Amino acid sequence: MKSDPMQPDLFENSSHSLPMPPSLRPVQKKLESLRQTIRRHDELYYVRSRPEISDAEYDKLFRELQELEGQHPELVTPDSPTQRVGGAPLDQFSKVTHEFPLLSLDSEMDEGSVLAFDQRVKRELGREQIGYSAEPKYDGLSVELTYEKGIFVRGATRGDGTIGEDVTHNLKTIRALPLRLKNGTGYPFHVVVRGEVFMKLPDFHALNRRLTEQGEETFANPRNASSGTLRQLDPSITATRPLTLTCYDYMSPDPSRPKTHFEAVSALDSWGLPIPQYRRHCRSIEETLAFHREMFDQRDALPFEIDGIVIKVDSFQGQEALGVKSRSPRWAIAYKFPPRKELTTVQGIAVSVGRTGALTPIALLDPVEIGGVTVSRASLHNVEEVARKDVRVGDTVKVERAGDVIPDVVERIPVPGETRGPEFTPPATCPVCQSHTIQEGPILYCTGQTVCSAQLKGSLEHYVSKGAMNIDGLGKKTIAQFVDEGLVKNLSDLYLLTKDQLLALEGFADKSATQLLEELEKSKDAPLPRFLIGLGIRHVGSHIAKVLANHYGSLQAIQRASKDELQAIYEIGPEIAASVESFFQEERNLAVIARMKDLGVQVQDIAVQAAGTAKPFSGKIFVLTGTLDSMSRDEAKQKIESLGGRVTSSVSKNTDYVIAGTDPGSKLEKAHSFRVTVLDEAGFESLLSDNGFSEN
Ligand code: IVH
Repeated sequence: MKSDPMQPDLFENSSHSLPMPPSLRPVQKKLESLRQTIRRHDELYYVRSRPEISDAEYDKLFRELQELEGQHPELVTPDSPTQRVGGAPLDQFSKVTHEFPLLSLDSEMDEGSVLAFDQRVKRELGREQIGYSAEPKYDGLSVELTYEKGIFVRGATRGDGTIGEDVTHNLKTIRALPLRLKNGTGYPFHVVVRGEVFMKLPDFHALNRRLTEQGEETFANPRNASSGTLRQLDPSITATRPLTLTCYDYMSPDPSRPKTHFEAVSALDSWGLPIPQYRRHCRSIEETLAFHREMFDQRDALPFEIDGIVIKVDSFQGQEALGVKSRSPRWAIAYKFPPRKELTTVQGIAVSVGRTGALTPIALLDPVEIGGVTVSRASLHNVEEVARKDVRVGDTVKVERAGDVIPDVVERIPVPGETRGPEFTPPATCPVCQSHTIQEGPILYCTGQTVCSAQLKGSLEHYVSKGAMNIDGLGKKTIAQFVDEGLVKNLSDLYLLTKDQLLALEGFADKSATQLLEELEKSKDAPLPRFLIGLGIRHVGSHIAKVLANHYGSLQAIQRASKDELQAIYEIGPEIAASVESFFQEERNLAVIARMKDLGVQVQDIAVQAAGTAKPFSGKIFVLTGTLDSMSRDEAKQKIESLGGRVTSSVSKNTDYVIAGTDPGSKLEKAHSFRVTVLDEAGFESLLSDNGFSEN
């Protein structure tokens, strides 16, 4: 066999590390030829939608491979088509730190904003005409796929953009995902592919039908179905729920990488990866607008959901020069479609209670299909809105579904000659705990903070959520059981749960109970910002929690802060200040926090800079370009920020330093033209150490 440097040595991937006995060579050859044939038919069927053989013929090939592998288990390779469903159910997903952060996109809804984007790009790149790549915006979940030597080795969800979950086993069940790349234009040794996992509409409907027959809960839309499926801990269940994939980008330090996005996606195609079926290289912004119109017209005929198009500056050099903001690139935007609307009738108005005690009226609708999804509930947001829209039971209403948001009642449609029911009366008591309600602005609140089980469930869900304390293994159902069984009456009770109590509940086995208790134990070491978010203080989300934590450094100091003092902090307004002060004045809250401390919760203090002592890089602006050998960009950024500096994406006359690694982009030229100090990696490291940077 001739060895191809781009193709991996098969034996490197099997458990077999000894040289192959000559007697096995013919079997090995047969196995590889079968796998190759099956891979080709997988690609034709799942990626190209152009099958060449019947299902029966395919099954025959597959069985033949299975049998032969059954006789020679030592010759099974991880990239064999038989290895798509493997692995025992997991207890939890492990976390993966993304090599490159997964960004999101700024969205635009109208042509004017898209033209303004083009103007900005032209101005910043100093060019009159910009080439764009336009693709549909698939409504699914973004994933990162890592291939080493052409073999699929790892796949992760987006997570928070920096850390995702390892869903390799589940991704392997997606038949459109090649376990081994074709050589095509030549793939890099190590390549990170970005794509979107989604479920086609017919598959989504079939899945919901099956779930209904089995008496299980159905999914609200294809995106939820994809997310529920991809985050299934048991890959054998995932395998029964057909997901598919499209890939729209890849990252690799490979110097021979194409020069444009459009060509890069073509490279993905040549490696056998599924790519957007519709995409266009546009020579001007006007051509992207035409693409938007065409996709909008086709949208209902497509067997999958798209919610707009993505417009990307085509040249990588242009992308590099434009740079990125904190969460989104400055070289791409999503140009969304207007939301879909349908008419239906209101059968009833229910009221739900959230963790803050806010009562949300919900219109119960005559089920209506909006863009392939059946909608039977829509939010009416608050009591004032119900009054303003004058929505009553029996009315005809227009309902809108915009991507991931819960459907909205847009307006009531008067029907000539209709007789209308009575006006909606805002409930005087909470539908869950019967405490009386009070109105603050447009919102009605339940006053039964400590006795309302709906509020308690909401607070617990919030405390354990990813953005707050991130305690795994505590879903909505489990929390409802804790509250309904009277095991948990406030946040601190979580830390009193015992194994016996858990085992007596539905859904717990020895292992899951032990694991949850371990998770809870781990969470006792609580980072200050996360703990603050977890408390659920009104107006204190992740950003404000960080601001407070960085300013005060300890929970104690925040507890003691007065409204006036809080308001003096940059970014803290009167509403936030009042909310924080009143939260910590409330005896019941202080008692719960004190009890959590007694039960071992230790909120970690963080170091704060004494007022007036500027950090060494305070006020200094850094730009990073190229690859650094000894640290990732994120690490470099953290080091700069820890010394008080700021990292921005593009070079301007305000930039103080450009740190240039290997293969710097056009930022380096810009730095020279603005006469900005340029440091190489060694220079950067000595700047760090001269300014007292240390790893601790
Ligand atoms: S490009 C930095 N292209 O939309 C570029 N994203 O709102 C970001 N998405 O997280 C991604 N189709 O999950 C890109 N053709 C496409 C896409 C696409 C769907 C999703 C993706 C991303 C989100 C951004």
